[in-house]
Amino acid sequence: MSNIRQVSGDERLHTAFTLYPYAFDKTPAADAAGELRDSLRFHEGNHTLVVEEGGRTLATASGIPTHQNLRGSVVRMAGIAWVATHPDARRQGHSSRLMHRLHRDMLDTGHLLAALYPFHPSFYEKLGYVGLLLNRTVTLSPQGLAPLLNVALPGEVRRQDIRDGFEVYRAFQRRLLSERHGFMFTPDYRAARILDPADRWLATATVDGEVAGLLTYYIDGYGGCLHADELLYTSALGRALLLRFLAQHAYQVSQVTITVAPDEFPETWAPSLAVRTVTEASFPTSPPLMGRLLSMDALQGVRCGPGRVEIEAVGDQLLAGRYLLDGTGGSIDVAAAGRGGEKATLTAAGLCALAYGVLDPLDVVARGLGEMSQGAVVQLRELLPRRAPHAFGKG
Ligand SMILES: CC(C)(COP(=O)(O)OP(=O)(O)OC[C@H]1O[C@@H](n2cnc3c(N)ncnc32)[C@H](O)[C@@H]1OP(=O)(O)O)[C@@H](O)C(=O)NCCC(=O)NCCS
Repeated sequence: MSNIRQVSGDERLHTAFTLYPYAFDKTPAADAAGELRDSLRFHEGNHTLVVEEGGRTLATASGIPTHQNLRGSVVRMAGIAWVATHPDARRQGHSSRLMHRLHRDMLDTGHLLAALYPFHPSFYEKLGYVGLLLNRTVTLSPQGLAPLLNVALPGEVRRQDIRDGFEVYRAFQRRLLSERHGFMFTPDYRAARILDPADRWLATATVDGEVAGLLTYYIDGYGGCLHADELLYTSALGRALLLRFLAQHAYQVSQVTITVAPDEFPETWAPSLAVRTVTEASFPTSPPLMGRLLSMDALQGVRCGPGRVEIEAVGDQLLAGRYLLDGTGGSIDVAAAGRGGEKATLTAAGLCALAYGVLDPLDVVARGLGEMSQGAVVQLRELLPRRAPHAFGKG
């Protein structure tokens, strides 16, 4: 008979970690044990669960205590990771059981949302998750940004080693957490992974002494490519300063790649800019983030439009019930529903799609994630208008 228990500290090495090399690494991984021991500190605060039978670890899953912005509210979120089952024990329901337990445990410690990068979406859709939007990869030649060199911009860009700028980097991420819908902020022990190895430069744009944008990146060689991570900024000026900084690499590198938000339009960055903007979802290598509510409390007080609607959440242990969502005061009030009024019946994934703003109510119906009256469509569209979550802050 198998049982689920939590493991922590060094104990992870001979339990959960025994499943990681086969599930996630290339074969053979001769020094996997040493690498895993070195990475132990990056798991320090994770909530790690294992399924055991006769002293043998059959499956594992972890929750990382993270924060995420949901339509302007900062909410505690469980970042689900390291989900793996021993090949001999797959398709016996171990991961599903672990996920249900992990949801409960993380909810008990105040996490109202959960998010993960799926190996295969249908597995997690059954567990209440919905796919969010994929960030885009922009490829351009730095010469294309040269017109920005002639624009007088107030402010400056400073380059430093990520080790020296780590505090600035984290402070700016924390600020974006409070400002950008979808933004995630991982705990310090996990964010510290960027320092090991510290193979990134940090470019920081400041205006009037205040950080307005930043970019981590590395250069793969003379005449090669400047690989930038996420383009993070709080104003158009911050973005322009960073792009002008990239223009200064013309004839040093031939190409620049940058990750940008789904609603970014790089073709507007400079006149006649030749640019390729790509989004490619593939599984398991390039999946869009998936997210879900672990509790209706995640929606309480969230900024919204003036809709008012009754919903019934079905097929989910954590969310099932009838609720009245009232946004007439400018933020959502979640109350137990009475009878009557415009009503929508939603699966957990359908409800989460509306909460994150990735689907319109009619898309929810078209995807088979709910049923609703025409009146409920109108109310839900008003209450939870579509928005593009910026799933940045992977850390
Ligand atoms: C993905 C993985 C963790 C699944 O573990 P598992 O213990 O076999 O999962 P379960 O037995 O709980 O399966 C639950 C459901 O998902 C389905 N499922 C399992 N593996 C699947 C797969 N590869 N593709 C699609 N569906 C799958 C099962 O059929 C089952 O469906 P059902 O409830 O309708 O019967 C395991 O295959 C694994 O370790 N893979 C390699 C590492 C990995 O990809 N991890 C996930 C990172 S997000």
